[in-house]
Amino acid sequence: MKKYFVIGNPIEHSLSPKLHNYWIKKNDIKAIYEKKKLNLKQLKEIILTVKNKEIHGINVTVPFKKEVIRYLDTLTPEAEITQSVNTINLVGNQIQGHNTDIAGFTLSLREINVNIVNKKILVLGAGGVVPSIIYALNQMKASSICVSNRTKNKAEDLKKLFNNITVINWGEVPDFDVIINATSLGLNDTDDIGLDFSKVKNKLFYDVIYNPQETNFLKKAKYFGNKTVNGKMMFIYQASASFNLWHKTQPEINKEVIALLDK
Ligand code: ATR
Repeated sequence: MKKYFVIGNPIEHSLSPKLHNYWIKKNDIKAIYEKKKLNLKQLKEIILTVKNKEIHGINVTVPFKKEVIRYLDTLTPEAEITQSVNTINLVGNQIQGHNTDIAGFTLSLREINVNIVNKKILVLGAGGVVPSIIYALNQMKASSICVSNRTKNKAEDLKKLFNNITVINWGEVPDFDVIINATSLGLNDTDDIGLDFSKVKNKLFYDVIYNPQETNFLKKAKYFGNKTVNGKMMFIYQASASFNLWHKTQPEINKEVIALLDK
């Protein structure tokens, strides 16, 4: 029986086990996928168990996507450029770090036929998932990427990875075609991002959050006549890319799978 884990802190609310175990069963694979809450000191030990095949693969979530890198032998180019790893496996005898968040984000836009070429993008937030989003937006040939974060320094730090981004003050709203909420504001029903979008119409509002399904950010955007999308398909696509890496099988994404993530 092969063993897989998602590691993070907090981890209680992760839906990755539900999704992966569903696909494992559907594909008759002898494996189990569990969640494990860790602290920083336990990180090295668990990652090294991949080497002796005690654990066959690991998903990494907040706040360890960067921290795990020091314990890995190799990184894919995407993981290297974003300095962000969400999937680990053994390649030969090397522990390798991958970034499937990039594919998750890209595929979630492709699915709804959004073309990013020459689009002006505003990204809110500078946390763990933002390098992957910026990488994907560059790949998709966005014309400009503005990043706004409450703690401006953290957005400025992203310039070391991506020198084409513009950092603006939190609270500023420049002209954009697509806005992406990558902050954690919206996880609570009462959260309000505090930005005025009352004059913004016919744009795309993307929220990385998928639980709740419709954050206040998306509710307001819809009210003012904008297109909205939540992070559910990004989550499913990043999981399917990890699954494919580990099990060499493309898992099916259908209504039943999507419903697994509805509470
Ligand atoms: P981490 O920052 O540890 O990677 P994250 O969940 O990936 O965690 O990121 C949280 C994001 O939400 C950050 O961009 C954070 O802004 P700061 O860098 O200023 O902390 C943002 N965020 C969280 N609470 C916020 C709030 N009340 N107002 C504005 N932004 C907030």
